[in-house]
Amino acid sequence: MNNILKEMNANYIKELLSEELIALFSHIQANKGTKAFKHYNQNLIKINNSLNSQLFNDEYNESLYKTLKNEYNRPVPFPAPVNPKFTFIDLFAGIGGFRIAMQSLGGKSIFSSEWNIAAKKTFLANYGEVPFGDITSEQTKSFIPENFDILCGGFPCQAFSIAGARKGFEDSRGTLFFDVEQIISTHRPKVFLLENVKNLISHDSGNTFQTIKNILSKKLGYVLYHKVMNTMDYTNIPQNRERIFLVGFDPVQVTRFSDFQFPAKISLTKGISDMLIDEKHNDKYYYHETHPYYHELNQTIDSRDTVYQWRRVYVRANKSNVCPTLTANMGTGGHNVPLIRDDFGIRKLTPRECFNFQGFPQEFILPEIADSKVYMQAGNSVTVPLIHRIGEEILKIL
Ligand SMILES: C[S@@+](CC[C@H](N)C(=O)[O-])C[C@H]1O[C@@H](n2cnc3c(N)ncnc32)[C@H](O)[C@@H]1O
Repeated sequence: MNNILKEMNANYIKELLSEELIALFSHIQANKGTKAFKHYNQNLIKINNSLNSQLFNDEYNESLYKTLKNEYNRPVPFPAPVNPKFTFIDLFAGIGGFRIAMQSLGGKSIFSSEWNIAAKKTFLANYGEVPFGDITSEQTKSFIPENFDILCGGFPCQAFSIAGARKGFEDSRGTLFFDVEQIISTHRPKVFLLENVKNLISHDSGNTFQTIKNILSKKLGYVLYHKVMNTMDYTNIPQNRERIFLVGFDPVQVTRFSDFQFPAKISLTKGISDMLIDEKHNDKYYYHETHPYYHELNQTIDSRDTVYQWRRVYVRANKSNVCPTLTANMGTGGHNVPLIRDDFGIRKLTPRECFNFQGFPQEFILPEIADSKVYMQAGNSVTVPLIHRIGEEILKIL
């Protein structure tokens, strides 16, 4: 294999091997026996031909390909359903919050994209697949297979803040929503399900959201529904997490679109303690007397049924008796991770508990990476049972 690689443009191969080629191999493995398999295989041949090389000859297959095959054929906790009822693609896939929910409804993901290396690790450990990388790149977009039913994506919201602070949305054609627009326009899925922060509605005095609605409904012709939903109102999980969900139906392919309804509210019966099922007592999450804020924390944190939050330099009870919104910046400074009191003292929520507050099953593997990254993945993700409930309503219409 070394000899072959030497013949190539070393940098190009390195880039390709480390990013899209690995993703391509894993998508080939994950899509055997489907139309998408043919599509990915053709792409592999195309790359091979364009390199005018023997990159994928027997020698290559026997070494790298076998290694990859073993890697991707390992049993994983969340394999795709054997006889899928529908297909979907997973954009800005993170750790696959959409994927778990859609798979549990009988869906098969035929394409995923996520560029964060730590998230890719979590993704591989749980689904046996490596997502493609930067979705703004035309090469990544070209890997998306032609036919799928649902497009899922929680596109990052920072792009809007930047856009708003500067020239306004219309001038910011580089933002990620426009990549979503391009993919919807090219592939015309039957349905899309998008998620974002609640602030999307009020950003730039409502102009940003108006533009998004105009593009999705007037320009692309989708029938659009949107709703702000709070995890604690629609799932039996005590987390205060408001997010906006946009569901769009292509009226040509989905004739019953007008019957769609977002799920109804349900009552919350679980409390904080139900979420704290955790592994063994782990000292590293506790605050000790030597900590500069220990005495203040000890005075303030007096209840066992309340989650507490740092507010700049002081800590306070989260009054609603639910967990505050878990955010992506948890763990970047320990202060952002919510706090509780238990039998052993005062401590941060553990990463596993944060995943519990997002409704991830206990079998979900948290890989051995820095805690700060695992916290970030939990904060960035969606609440799985909420996506499951919205997905159920979508499937009633399809
Ligand atoms: C809000 S999170 C979505 C998390 C996901 N819904 C989940 O369940 O875990 C947005 C994700 O988009 C990824 N991302 C941002 N820009 C990207 C790009 N250009 N290409 C691919 N992924 C990107 C980030 O790394 C992040 O994981």
